[in-house]
Amino acid sequence: MTQRRVYLDHSATTPVDPEVVEAMLPWFREHFGNASSVHAWGRRARVAVEEAREEIASLIGAHPAELVFTSGGTEANNAILKSCCVESRLTDTVVYSAVEHHSVIHPAEALAAQGSRTAVLPVDSWGRVIVEEVAQWNHPRTLISVMHANNETGTIQPIKAVRAAAPDALLHTDAVQAFGKIPLNVHQLGADFATFSAHKIHGPKGIGGMYIRRGIDFKAHQHGGGQERNRRAGTEPVALIVGFQVAARKAVHELEQRAQRMHSLSRLLRHLLQERIPGVLFNTPEIDALSNIVNITFTDAHKLDGDALILGMDLYGIAISNGSACTAGSMQPSHVLQAMGRSPAQARAAIRFSLSHETTEEELRYAVETLEKVLSPMRADSRASATFRTLP
Ligand SMILES: Cc1ncc(COP(=O)(O)O)c(C=O)c1O
Repeated sequence: MTQRRVYLDHSATTPVDPEVVEAMLPWFREHFGNASSVHAWGRRARVAVEEAREEIASLIGAHPAELVFTSGGTEANNAILKSCCVESRLTDTVVYSAVEHHSVIHPAEALAAQGSRTAVLPVDSWGRVIVEEVAQWNHPRTLISVMHANNETGTIQPIKAVRAAAPDALLHTDAVQAFGKIPLNVHQLGADFATFSAHKIHGPKGIGGMYIRRGIDFKAHQHGGGQERNRRAGTEPVALIVGFQVAARKAVHELEQRAQRMHSLSRLLRHLLQERIPGVLFNTPEIDALSNIVNITFTDAHKLDGDALILGMDLYGIAISNGSACTAGSMQPSHVLQAMGRSPAQARAAIRFSLSHETTEEELRYAVETLEKVLSPMRADSRASATFRTLP
């Protein structure tokens, strides 16, 4: 009998939608031209790239000239932070929230090592930026980076309030997890920069984008050809861009139905966890959070380990995560959960379920039943070893 497989790690990545695959295929073999070439092959590719740019820009409330394609969210975050401080010389200070993705934190740390001033904005116990702390950074030579929604907990940040508190600073929001999950309009948010990635919304890996507000003199961080109006060198991957376009279109057009479905699924998951698993603590708030993430830890976290739980669930064919795929296996307790005030043990024991609109109630029931099975020997074992450790 083949093992049952249940994928509940959609914040790490999603399966590519079959319609997206179909739309991409002709751009690999038939229409393989380089969008910078002047001949018919090139012109055809250029039209596809510009049509995709126009449509994706309209889906985020931007002008097409404000959207630059990148290889994904990591590159976009790096390019914005580094270009602001180095190539474009727009800022000398980067202020970022304590719960940012590592693709913001690590370039900020690299910039600090090269002499830029950096500061970290604290968050409350649900991981929300403390807006009162923002006003002190209201300066035109400061870049403030606050993500739209957190990848580990799903917490949505008060971006408009951050903008209102620092109207003169440059504002970047990493919208990789928020795009396609909640309505998003970069102008209404008041962002100067925003970052996106296709593979979180059933598009292909290796393509994403950065919104750069018109009027900002943004110089490329990556040098080479003059593609993307000199803001990002490199041959445009036409098939991936077309895939991003179709995935973005579907995610935004179906946003309401998908969000409603995921919301009722995550409510069921919370209910099942509370009913079946003793000592569950939720790290995802019930309001102002993405509908597809439920992150939990445990009151007896010191006896448990998130990585062991993930491996235990994997043995039953269930994919869950401890938050950031990049830190999985590194044994580092989540910086996000610790910034929220969770203890290192609680952060280490945490697990994240992330659903899609294709997840079923049955899959969630199986996952919670399995978690119960995986947890109970761990809890019993550590009781035994704790007793053993207390022997003289
Ligand atoms: C909030 C956030 N930002 C950035 C990224 C990086 O995006 P990509 O995988 O496209 O490089 C991720 C991916 O996990 C993410 O969750």
